[in-house]
Amino acid sequence: MNEIAVYGGGGFAREVAWLVESCNVEAELYRVVCFVDDNPAAHGLTLNEIPVVGLDDAQARFPYAKIVAGVGSPKTRELVVNKAAAARYEFATIIHPRVERSRWVEIGVGTVICAGSILTTNIVLGHHVQINLDCTVGHDVVMGDYTTLAPGVHVSGWVHMGKRVYIGTGAVIINGTQNVPLVIGDDAVIGAGACVTKSVPAGVTVVGVPAKPLSQR
Ligand SMILES: CC(C)(COP(=O)(O)OP(=O)(O)OC[C@H]1O[C@@H](n2cnc3c(N)ncnc32)[C@H](O)[C@@H]1OP(=O)(O)O)[C@@H](O)C(=O)NCCC(=O)NCCS
Repeated sequence: MNEIAVYGGGGFAREVAWLVESCNVEAELYRVVCFVDDNPAAHGLTLNEIPVVGLDDAQARFPYAKIVAGVGSPKTRELVVNKAAAARYEFATIIHPRVERSRWVEIGVGTVICAGSILTTNIVLGHHVQINLDCTVGHDVVMGDYTTLAPGVHVSGWVHMGKRVYIGTGAVIINGTQNVPLVIGDDAVIGAGACVTKSVPAGVTVVGVPAKPLSQR
């Protein structure tokens, strides 16, 4: 039995706790022992019957627990992962049993993949990536560390994402080509419902169909 501490106190943290429990289909693989919250006002509370504690307290009470980040924002996730790493935590990688993927999918440490998602072939996911419910990821896609796909995102083939990219609910990324992949730069944000038809520079937020920079609307 692996003890898991979910870092985060918001809605996605509760969803990740459910995801972890949902992995116990054929055997009791995991038990969520606590939520880790940096807000002292939350310590001592319970969320869905799971205690909320600070990072130090989690380490004292559950020294064998591994951490998984339950934070949707890439930047905040990087922050909490760095805190947990500095406290010498190990990280758990959690994949829902109802995720379909080929054996040609590399998955980094701390990555979370939620129910209903399908990943095809020759895909590389970095560390602490989050793929929310019902996403599809096509061939030859690269996702950098801390990148987030919100629910129902569809990424076509030959798309390369940098680090901390955030893709909002229901967005569609059309395909690049083998020679010219569609590139989404570090820290770019794709608005919910957007259709991305060309590369997006680092740090830029795009929205709409076809997606255009928010600043140019
Ligand atoms: C794109 C996004 C990041 C912009 O956030 P923001 O910078 O706070 O922008 P604002 O809410 O101030 O909106 C600015 C303008 O963009 C428009 N806009 C915001 N999001 C948009 C979207 N996804 N598509 C089209 N237009 C959008 C707003 O209507 C507003 O237009 P106006 O100036 O004509 O009133 C955000 O709206 C978004 O889509 N986030 C993804 C949310 C999501 O998927 N969550 C999943 C949780 S699991």
